[in-house]
Amino acid sequence: MMSLKSEVLIIYGSSKGRTARMAGVLAEELESAGIPFVLKNVFEVNPRELVEHSHFVLGCSTYGQGDLQRDFLEFERGMDDLDLSGIKAAVFGSGNSRYAYYAEAVDILEAKVKIQGARLICPSFRQDMMDEVPDGDEVRTWAAKLAAALAGEASS
Ligand SMILES: Cc1cc2nc3c(=O)[nH]c(=O)nc-3n(C[C@H](O)[C@H](O)[C@H](O)COP(=O)(O)O)c2cc1C
Repeated sequence: MMSLKSEVLIIYGSSKGRTARMAGVLAEELESAGIPFVLKNVFEVNPRELVEHSHFVLGCSTYGQGDLQRDFLEFERGMDDLDLSGIKAAVFGSGNSRYAYYAEAVDILEAKVKIQGARLICPSFRQDMMDEVPDGDEVRTWAAKLAAALAGEASS
């Protein structure tokens, strides 16, 4: 079997830049924890790259009636044939709690990574744009927890 790249693959889809800013905070936290990563916008990633990394993180905002951000739609369909067993994942995204399907994209992607065989390494994070800022304390706290979980894996 091909050996997996150890750097964490962070992929985000964002129309107004909020989820992109959250991804930036995550990158800062991994950087300060000394955890190698690559940060990519979903439109520049082939879903097959997911099977090349031991860990990945997906960040996606919600549009329509609880739909994935538009750049993520094709990517998510492209995950259908992937065998993600043995791979660890985490999911986050920005949403607006005034919508009926609050941050539903996070739920869709959580279900997807699990169906394809990956394991979630920490609880997902939903950022409510109504009362949080994309680079605020909440996302930083979550990113630090994820960094700690990743660091714990590396040392075990
Ligand atoms: C047309 C439209 C539909 C939206 N639908 C939802 C929704 O169903 N659920 C939700 O949580 N947020 C919804 N939102 C809010 C966005 O997810 C929110 O503004 C988010 O911060 C955008 O993040 P982004 O800049 O990363 O794309 C919607 C926003 C717009 C403009």
